[in-house]
This record gives sequence, C-alpha cells and structure tokens, in this order.
Amino acid sequence: MKILVTGGAGYIGSHTVLELLKDGHEAIVVDNLSNSSEVAISRVESITGKKVVFYKADVRDKDALRGIFRDHKIDWVIHFAGLKAVGESCSMPVEYYDNNLYGTLCLLEVMKEFGVKRIVFSSSATVYGTPESLPLTEESRTGGTTNPYGTSKYFQEIMLEDLYKSDPTWTVVLLRYFNPVGAHESGLIGEDPKGIPNNLTPFIAKVAIGILPEIGVFGSDYPTKDGTGVRDYIHVVDLAKGHLAAVDKIKSSGVYVYNLGTGVGYSVLEVIAAFEKACGKKLPYVFKPRRAGDIAECYADASKAKRELGWEAKLGIDDMCSSLWNWQSKNPNGYN
Ligand code: NAD
Ligand code: UFG
Repeated sequence: MKILVTGGAGYIGSHTVLELLKDGHEAIVVDNLSNSSEVAISRVESITGKKVVFYKADVRDKDALRGIFRDHKIDWVIHFAGLKAVGESCSMPVEYYDNNLYGTLCLLEVMKEFGVKRIVFSSSATVYGTPESLPLTEESRTGGTTNPYGTSKYFQEIMLEDLYKSDPTWTVVLLRYFNPVGAHESGLIGEDPKGIPNNLTPFIAKVAIGILPEIGVFGSDYPTKDGTGVRDYIHVVDLAKGHLAAVDKIKSSGVYVYNLGTGVGYSVLEVIAAFEKACGKKLPYVFKPRRAGDIAECYADASKAKRELGWEAKLGIDDMCSSLWNWQSKNPNGYN
C-alpha cells in the first residue's frame, strides 16, 4: 500500500517507515524537519535498500499537502507530525495548539478533499491523565490532562472521533503509546533530542557517553516499589510494528483505539540498572525533588492490540537499553 507518513523523519516515524518498507509498502514522508534530520531518511533507505519519497513541508501548508495527494494515490495516512515536549508546551501553548491541532485539521481537510479516509494517529498514554486504576485499559477514563501537549493529544482524539461520527466511512486508529525507547539494531537511526533531553533514557545515554555529568532522579518518595516513578517502556521497533499491524489488519471503517505498551512497569532506578548493564559501567545519579506534573506509576493493559491486531511487544528492557547504547555510542552527536 502507499502510505503517507507525516513526521516520518522523526524518532518513531523513521522506525515506522523502515518497517513499512521492509513489509513491502511504499512510504511517502512529509516533514518540516523542525525536530529531525533528513539524514534519518537516507539511513532508512540504506538499511532497507528502498527509496522513500520525501517532501520537506509543513502539514499546516494545505497547498503543499494537496500537491502530495495529487502526485500519489494514498491508501493510508500515519500522522506523527507534531510537537511533543511536555515542559515546552507549558511555556508555548499557542505554538503547541497551532502545530498539533491546526496541523491535524489541515491534514484532515485535505484528506477529505481527496477522499482518503484512513488515518492512524499517534496518541499517548498522557490522554489518561492521572490513572484511577492500573493497568490502563482503552476503557479507562481520558481527559484531565495536565499540560497543553497532553491536552492537544486528547483534543485530537476527540476531533477524529467527531469526524467519524459525521461520516462513518472513515477509518480512525488511535494508538496510545506508552514510553517509547531504544533504537534500531543497526545503530543507524535513533532518537536525537535537541539540547538537554527531557526524557529519562536519552538523558541516561548522554551521561553514559560523558556529555552530561549525572542523572537526576525526580522523586524518591512515590508509592512505588522503590519510591521512584514507574513507567511502561516500549522498544521503538515494537512500537513501529504496531503501526504496521494496524494498516495490515484493519479492513473496515470505524474508530479503533489501542494501547501500545508492554504491560510491565519499570522504576527509574531499575532503568538505570538496566542501562548500566548495557553500557558496562556504573552511572552516577542523584535524587531530586519530584518533577511537576509527573504521576507515580503508569502501565498498560495491551491485550486488546494482541487480540485484535495480533501485535504484542517482543523486546524487553535489556534490548531497549542495549540498542539505545549502540545508537548513542555510534552517533555521540546524533545525526550531526
Ligand atoms: P519527533 O519530534 O522525533 O517526530 C515528530 C516529527 O514531526 C519530527 O520529525 C518533526 O520535524 C515533525 N513535525 C513537527 N511538526 C510538524 C509540522 N507542522 N509539519 C511537518 N512536520 C512536523 O517525535 P516522536 O517521538 O517521533 O513522536 C512522534 C509522534 O508520537 C508525536 O505526535 C508525538 O506526540 C507522539 N508520541 C510520542 C511519544 C514519545 O515519548 N516519543 C509518546 C507518545 C506519543
Ligand atoms: N525522570 C527522571 N529523570 C529525568 C527524566 C525523567 O527521574 O531526567 C523520570 C520521570 O520522573 C518519570 C520517568 O523518569 O518517572 C519517565 O519520564 P520521561 O520524561 O522519560 O517520560 P514521561 O512518562 O514523563 O512522558 C513520556 C513522554 C510523553 C508521553 C508519555 C506517555 O515524554 O510525551 O511518556 O506516553 F506522553
């Protein structure tokens, strides 16, 4: 199938494009490169030996999108493009809502014009807000988000559900990712955060390589197994394969919602220990106060994706840490 991947030069997008190509699909990428590099695309091409059609454009540029839909008969759209830093979204809410909400509206408008009605959307466990109970199922309460980034994900889900209600010939797949980490086994593509990373595993990797002095562990008094925050970390390659399962398996219109996680929660200290094993050295860390907006614990019930899509995460925390270390040590400055 011909699949338009918005944000396909980014971290999860590039891994997904790779899996789509490996599975025989054609990938057309549109990305404004605001948080990524075109090098990721050329590396995907060299790993797979296949071409990616790449457009450097913003999804808010409807004329550019129209040109792409005119040039290609698109079967599915996988929509990754968006801004994703929780902290930044609190200081730049207008930019976040503009990019994430207006960007999605432009894309949907052009998809409607061209009669392309199948979309997979990158949602997030963040739409659940503070969990009422664990594990989180797709039926758990959504909303109650605590930052503009999370609220934009929640709103985008509602926009897509309303679109389906207005026209039930649409196929809308909402994939709620838990915490994506790791990199492709080649070490050629991976996460390349700009500046000091906000997320735990890229931060640990930068300490391991010697770019940052020590890990700050945000909170040691949570009601968890060791007092530090617990999350459901999922290997980015497993996550990418979840998108493949969605476009391969879903044949009829509807709204489909899936958690993509492993169902297992690891604490910050457990992740540090797993990374120490992967890189073969002790890593310095200090306890810091809790980070504003963080929850104690979050992990998925991912059984619906297994039941309906035949997808489940195969890789564990050791694979996540060793692949991240492989990427980090081969590319100490990311794609630069
Ligand atoms: P990323 O920043 O690496 O990828 C996003 C890509 O979209 C980048 O290449 C960026 O240049 C591009 N982009 C941003 N705005 C654009 C626009 N207006 N037009 C065209 N391109 C644009 O992030 P990622 O981690 O790969 O995340 C992909 C998606 O998954 C995002 O929607 C993100 O919110 C969602 N998500 C990520 C996580 C996570 O922890 N990484 C968790 C849950 C959900
Ligand atoms: N943490 C630290 N030190 C750090 C960074 C993080 O101790 O330097 C802790 C956090 O307090 C938390 C855990 O490590 O307990 C994970 O934090 P991340 O920032 O890596 O991830 P979050 O769970 O906060 O959020 C991530 C993405 C969100 C997404 C969410 C669920 O950043 O965009 O996963 O998918 F919504």
